[in-house]
Amino acid sequence: MSSAFSVEGFRSLAKRRLPRMVFDYLEGGAEDEKCLQRNRLAFDEWEFRPRRLADVSTRDLSVNLLGNALPMPLLVAPTGLNGAFWPRGDIALATAARKAGIPFMLSTAANASIEQVADKAGGELWFQLYVVHPSLADQLVARALAAGCRTLVLTTDVAVNGKRERDLRSGFGLPFKYTPKVMLDGMLHPRWSMSLLAGGMPQMANFANQDANNVELQAALLSRKMDASFDWEALKRLRQQWPHRLLVKGILHPDDAARCIELGADGVILSNHGGRQLDSSCSPMSVLKDIALAHPGRVLVDSGFRRGSDVVKAMALGAAGVLIGRPLLYGLAAAGEAGASQVLSIFKDEMDRTLANMGCAAMAGLSLEHINSVRG
Ligand SMILES: Cc1cc2nc3c(=O)[nH]c(=O)nc-3n(C[C@H](O)[C@H](O)[C@H](O)COP(=O)(O)O)c2cc1C
Repeated sequence: MSSAFSVEGFRSLAKRRLPRMVFDYLEGGAEDEKCLQRNRLAFDEWEFRPRRLADVSTRDLSVNLLGNALPMPLLVAPTGLNGAFWPRGDIALATAARKAGIPFMLSTAANASIEQVADKAGGELWFQLYVVHPSLADQLVARALAAGCRTLVLTTDVAVNGKRERDLRSGFGLPFKYTPKVMLDGMLHPRWSMSLLAGGMPQMANFANQDANNVELQAALLSRKMDASFDWEALKRLRQQWPHRLLVKGILHPDDAARCIELGADGVILSNHGGRQLDSSCSPMSVLKDIALAHPGRVLVDSGFRRGSDVVKAMALGAAGVLIGRPLLYGLAAAGEAGASQVLSIFKDEMDRTLANMGCAAMAGLSLEHINSVRG
C-alpha cells in the first residue's frame, strides 16, 4: 500500500484488485456521468482566505454533531453491496468507523444484517432506510431500533433507479451471472476471486430468511425499485414511528430542507447520491451555504469529497458533518478494514494540514470568513 498517499492512490489499488464489472458498479454514475464530474468541480468554486499569525501549533478537528462529540466531522455513507468489494465488507467498514470514533451508516441493501453489524462491529451504528415496501420498512425500522440504532437515515433520492449504463453493459447484479466475460474478468483478478470463493456470494442480508416475498423484494431492492409513492404524509408517519434521531438524505432544495425540519426531522443530508441518480442534478456543494445558514447545525452533506480540504470547505460553508462514500470503498476494496482505516487517516491528515495552513486551529472555529466564492 506504499503508493497510496491519497484517495486517488487507493482508487488505483481498488481498480487493480476488482474485476471491471465490480469496479464499475462502485465507480459509476447515471447516464453521461456529468454529475460525477460536477460534484468534483463544485469544490473549485470555493477558495480559502487563510489567516496569518494565529497560533496553530495544536489543532482540534473535533465537532459537535447534533449534540454528539465527534473526533472529526466525517461519517461513513451508507453503501449497498459492500460484500462485493471485500468479504464481510460492512463489518470491515463499521469496524474502521468504530476505531476512528465516527458513525457508520448501514444500508438497507447491506450484505450484513443490522443485527450482525451491531453484534460484530459495535460503535455508533446508524441505519439507512430504503422504502421498498411500506410493511417491509416497518419491519426494518423495528429491527434497527431493537439492534440499538439511535439514528435513522431515510434516503429520498431513489424514486426509480438511476440509469447506470456501466451496470447495464456489464449485467452487474447479485448473484453474479457467470457469463464467459465475467469468468474471464474474475480470472484476471485472482485475489478478488479467491476472496469471493472463501467468503461466499454476498447476500442481501437484511432480507435473508424472511417471508415468501423475499426473492421479489431482493430483486426490487437490487434494481432499486422503491415505493415511489413515498411522500410528505409518509414522512410524517415515519417521524411518529421512530422515537430517536431522524435524518433525511438526498435533499437539495431549500424548501424541502425546511419542510423536513418542520415535520420534525433532526437534520437533512444534502446529496445527489454521488451522481448515481439524476445526471443533471445540482451539486450539494452549490446549495450548501444557503441551506446551512437557514438550519445551523442540522445540515450534513456528501457527494464528491476526495480531499481533507474538500471537507474543510464544506465545514466553512456551515455543514455539520460530511459523509464519505466511494473513497472508503476504494480503501475497502484495496485492503479491507486496514484500507478503509488508512483512507480515514488520509482525510484526517489532510484536514489537519489544511486547518494549520489556513491559520485556523479548530474545525469548530471555521466560518464563512474563511472562504470565498471564486465568482466573487
Ligand atoms: C457503490 C455505492 C452504493 C451506494 N448505495 C447506497 C445505499 O444503499 N443507500 C444510500 O442511501 N446511498 C447509497 N449510495 C450513495 C452514498 O450513500 C453517498 O451518497 C455517495 O456515495 C456520496 O458520494 P461519493 O461516493 O462521491 O462520496 C451508494 C454509493 C455508492 C458509490
